[in-house]
Order: sequence, then structure tokens, then C-alpha cells
Amino acid sequence: MTIHIGATPEDIAQTVLMPGDPYRARWAAETFLESPKLVNEVRGMLGFTGTWHGHRVTIQGSGMGMPSLSIYANELIRDYGVKTLIRIGSCGGMQESVKLRDLVLAMTTSSVSTPSSTIFRELAFAPAADWSLLSAAAKAAAKKEIDTHIGGIYSSDTFYDERPDLNEQMERHGILAVEMEAAELYTLAARYGCRALAVLTVSDHLKTHEALPADQREKSFGDMVEIALEAAFSE
Ligand code: HPA
Repeated sequence: MTIHIGATPEDIAQTVLMPGDPYRARWAAETFLESPKLVNEVRGMLGFTGTWHGHRVTIQGSGMGMPSLSIYANELIRDYGVKTLIRIGSCGGMQESVKLRDLVLAMTTSSVSTPSSTIFRELAFAPAADWSLLSAAAKAAAKKEIDTHIGGIYSSDTFYDERPDLNEQMERHGILAVEMEAAELYTLAARYGCRALAVLTVSDHLKTHEALPADQREKSFGDMVEIALEAAFSE
């Protein structure tokens, strides 16, 4: 048990999928895993462990934003020995070519700050996805014929953003989408020698101001879970 996760060491698998929303963790576990077992409910941040095609996997909510994700990812890696972490979540499109419902696989992620920024000081560290996970997820997405974009994203500290000038620069430099967790996940994975990837669906758009209705998010979320599972166990 850790401060924020009430599971025993045996309860947590070495591969963890991390949706932001703990209810999504429950839905994904009940929909895609065999024999899902509730392994954490501290602060309502639900986590479940079960099997997928014979592989043990945990689906643990991360909460929103890098400070929250950092707590769960640190404890999963350092105390439970987790080796593969895949974020499954939503993002806001930043390029016209990136449409609602499209999939974004985050190859790199830029940020203004992360909970890890203090250790880098003047260094602009470049958090990057694990290549084996990224290429396997790209193949799984292609099989499903989902429109997929692979490239740089932005991990923001704010949903209600007050820096349109910064967004303009990112758009100009080809950043595909914005979300709020991946940079810290990739940085922790680099620090502790783990594999990480963020698989994202475009749920809203910064340029067109469109947003996906709630009832259509479930289908996209299910596709992401399947792509993440296939990528995690692709070898
Ligand atoms: N901004 C930040 N995070 C997000 C967004 C957004 O527009 N959409 C989904 N996650």
C-alpha cells in the first residue's frame, strides 16, 4: 500500500492503462478485462486489475493534470514495479487537419512546466514516447481504420487557457493537440526506465470550437482501450 493506492503489491500488474477519469477506469475494466477486481478506491481514484487475452493488466485512474498523474505514476513505478504505462484520454485539436474523433499518438510532448521541471532547471528536456509502444499502437489504429496523427502534443497546466499567443506558436510549429498529463508521464518513464505512451482522442477543437457530445465519447474511448491493450502486449 502507498499513500494514494490501497492495493497490495500483488494486486497491481506490470502494465497499467491510465484514463484521467476513475469511472472510465471502471467502464474499461468491466468492458474489456476478464475477471476485473477492484484494487484501489482511495479518494475515489478507482483502479482495477484483470486479464486481457491472458495478460495481467491494471486500469488505474490518474485524475486530471500532471500533479495528479504524477502521484499515481510515481507510486505505480516506484512502489509497485510497473514497467509499462499507457495514458488513454482526450485532447483538444490544434491543427485544422486534426478532426474530432481522430486519434492522436503523442510522439513527443511540450510543456511550460511539469512537476519534474524543478530538476531540469535551464534544460528543456524533451519527453518522448516509447518507440515500441508507439509503433504498435500505430499498427493497431491502422487495423481499425481510424484517422490517426502521430507527432508532437502540448501538455498544458490549464484547461481554461489564457495564453492565445502560446497556442499560436505551437500551432505554427505543428503541435497536433493539447491535453494535460503526458509530459510528466513520459518524463517519469524516462527517469525510471519504463515504457510510456499517450493514446488520445480529439474531443474538442481549439480552432473550430466544436466538441464531441458525451454519448459519442464512449465509442472513441473503447477504441483507445483496445489500441492501448494491443500495443502493450504486441511482442
Ligand atoms: N485543453 C486541455 N486539455 C484538454 C482539452 C483542451 O482543450 N481537451 C481535452 N483535454
